[in-house]
Parts: sequence; structure tokens; C-alpha cells
Amino acid sequence: MAELVWMNGEIVPLADARVGIEDRGFQFADGVYEVIRLYNHKPFALDLHLQRLQKSAAGIQLAVPIAIPALAAEIGKFLARASVPDGMIYLQLTRGCAPRSHAFSQTKATLLFYARTLPPLTDLTTSEGVKLITVPDERWKRCWIKSIALLPNVLAKNQALAGGADEAVFIENEIVTECSASNIFAVIGQRLVTHPVGPKVLPGITRAILLDLAAKIGLTAEERPLREAEMLHADELFITSTTREISWVARWNDRNIDQSRCGPVTLKLNAVLRERVQRETA
Ligand code: PDD
Repeated sequence: MAELVWMNGEIVPLADARVGIEDRGFQFADGVYEVIRLYNHKPFALDLHLQRLQKSAAGIQLAVPIAIPALAAEIGKFLARASVPDGMIYLQLTRGCAPRSHAFSQTKATLLFYARTLPPLTDLTTSEGVKLITVPDERWKRCWIKSIALLPNVLAKNQALAGGADEAVFIENEIVTECSASNIFAVIGQRLVTHPVGPKVLPGITRAILLDLAAKIGLTAEERPLREAEMLHADELFITSTTREISWVARWNDRNIDQSRCGPVTLKLNAVLRERVQRETA
């Protein structure tokens, strides 16, 4: 079956959908986005993603052009037609088309979403850990906005791949902020530590859910800046995102992290996350 896209209220084949040359998303990266996980035909944590969408849009003085409950209903209708049981929804909102000018003008926003299959998640007990390389954090100071202006992230990710790593971790003044497309956590004793969200860190949905679940397995959640040196001496390190859920970290630049397999706390957190996913998408 041909892939479909929901675009400004209509469902059309993805291959036929068109966005104008003067769409401000195309010319200025003037827009925001969401990536939502699908399990068993159902979106996971949809309410949290749509709340973040509203905040991101407000952060660039843009309103979501349809009420959030109506948007959730449209996503449900779309999923009933799209044959993607397990994967993700990519949703993008831009300020829409107008003659090119930095100044905003009256535009009709462009809102679209489509679904894609993702490869099955790897089993943390048997998977190899990810390799990270550090890069200077050259991004703007509004990283809490899930902006489509991802060039620094794209360059960092490609630098990681070119260096034989999986993901790039941003460092600013010796502090570890987040990765090119994921948040990062350290397990230190019975504490789960990660950088606060805000100017330099996206409020990741997986991050928020794990901070919420930490207490269930006897961990104290702590949001504070972490120095690179502290990360290297942590008991366990892992990164999180909607698409990857949790990946354990095995290597940091040219150093091995002191683990040959995924650590016990990361495994426990993964188990409570999986339970939550299964409960909410059964
Ligand atoms: N990226 N930080 C950054 C910079 C990200 O791009 C992402 C997600 C995250 C994790 O957020 P969440 O848990 O809500 O997925 C953190 C998505 C998956 C992407 O751009 O494809």
C-alpha cells in the first residue's frame, strides 16, 4: 500500500504531497516538529508529545492550527488507514507560505504528519553499547524548542558517524548537555542524573518518563549539570530518545566505559519502561 500523509486536513499519498517553494519551513527552518513512537498501531505518550508541540510552537510565536484533542483524533483516524503497526509518526508544523521576508506576515501554517516503520528495538541484554564522540555545543540557547533547524545536530551526528561512533554528545564549558538526537543520563550510586532541560537541553519525552519511573526502582532522580570527567567515572551511562528508547553507552571518544555489557540499573529502567509501553499500547 502506498505511504500516506495527512496534510492540512487531507490524507493523500506521500509521493503526491507538495509544499510550496516559499514555505517558511523550507526557506527559514521556521517550524517545529515531533517524533512519536507507534507500538501495535497505537501512539505512545501522545498527550506528552502534543503538549510539547504546543510549547515549541508558542516558543516561535506560532499556534497549532487545530485544537489538540482534534489533532489527536486526526492522528487516530490516520493510523486506522496507514498500515504501520510499529514505527513512528513524524509531525511537522511550519509557519506556511509567504513571499520571502524575514518578517512574519499573515500565513496559513503548514501542518503534516506521516507514519514510518522502524527496525525492531535491539535487546539491551545482548546488544553492543553505543559509541559516543564529544563535539562542542554550538547550538542556539533555545534547545527546549523542538525546532526543525537541526543543522548543528545533523553535522554533529555525521561527525560521529565519520569517526566510527553512533552518536555525538555536546559539551559546553566542560558540561555535558545532550546528544545530537537523544538525551544522556548517568547512574551514580543510587542516583539517576541528567542535565536540566532548558536553553541547552530538549525536554525529551523518554527522559521525562524515565525520571518519573526512577523512584519505582529505588533511584533518586537528580537534574543538574554533569562535567565530562564525572560522566567518565559514572557507574552506568545511557542515552534516550523516542526512536531508540534506551541505548547503553560503551565508549566515549577513545575510552572504554567500565562495562562490557549493559549495566543492571539501565536494564531495570528499561524493564519498567517496557512495562509502561506495553500497558499503554496493549
Ligand atoms: N530526537 N534531544 C534531541 C536534540 C533530540 O533530537 C531528541 C529526539 C531527544 C530525545 O527526545 P524524545 O525522548 O522526546 O524523543 C533529545 C528525535 C527522535 C528525532 O529528531 O528524530
